[in-house]
Amino acid sequence: MHLTEERELTNNSWFILERNEYDNLAPELLEGDIFGGRDCGWVSQMRPFIRAFSSSEDLVLDPFAGLGTTLVAAIMEGRNVVGVEIEAKRIELINKRLSSLNHKQGVSLHRMDAQKAFPEMNSTVDLSLTSIPYFGASDSFDASKYQGQTYNSLDYQSYLGILDRVFSNIKRWLKKDKFAIFMCENLHLQNAGFVPLAWDVARILQQHFVLCDERIICYEKENGELGSDSTRTNRSHEYVLICRNSLIT
Ligand SMILES: C[S@@+](CC[C@H](N)C(=O)[O-])C[C@H]1O[C@@H](n2cnc3c(N)ncnc32)[C@H](O)[C@@H]1O
Repeated sequence: MHLTEERELTNNSWFILERNEYDNLAPELLEGDIFGGRDCGWVSQMRPFIRAFSSSEDLVLDPFAGLGTTLVAAIMEGRNVVGVEIEAKRIELINKRLSSLNHKQGVSLHRMDAQKAFPEMNSTVDLSLTSIPYFGASDSFDASKYQGQTYNSLDYQSYLGILDRVFSNIKRWLKKDKFAIFMCENLHLQNAGFVPLAWDVARILQQHFVLCDERIICYEKENGELGSDSTRTNRSHEYVLICRNSLIT
């Protein structure tokens, strides 16, 4: 198994992330995923932030739990976890993924729309950590099958509206002065050109939280085929927006 040394977060604003073997989703889970695992993050992307922004046995929330990557990372760091995910099939997948870990941590999973007021949550959380579902994926799905799904947003303003409602719910469930951390990228979409998604998300976050800092994660990528627009880039960096649930002054 290829294990790189566990990264500690430093004061540097960027770092290059190396893939660990435990970042790979098991092939049988990948094959069964409704979205083909296309949005699967890395466990090693999440671990340094969990260590730096929470303590042992704290409760960590992922409001867009997806394939359970944040939850796996939090469990590996000895945290209790709560995941919210709108797709039932993904909740099943997370359950399978977590059952392969030998752990004693508390896990609660809720199949629900994170825009709703998280009625099933019965405890406030010490850290919220998530990867934002991106805009521009609606072409790949049959929207009628996926109600409430952020990936199905047809226009950018309604997409940002969904995120705004989710952020306000996170604020409600996050303990005072604790951190909410969001991973996102600016995008280059075939039909819409450059979309400054990460920067727009940061502006919305500022309406709910104190935006404290950022980190930029860089990924080593081969040069890809990018089509005819000569300004297009291989998206190989990601913003980590670090917010605190403190009074906005
Ligand atoms: C970026 S993925 C998270 C995947 C995560 N990075 C991982 O590797 O496990 C975003 C997830 O948010 C879910 N989602 C989208 N809209 C949602 C909503 N309104 N409420 C809850 N979950 C939602 C999607 O189904 C998707 O699984």
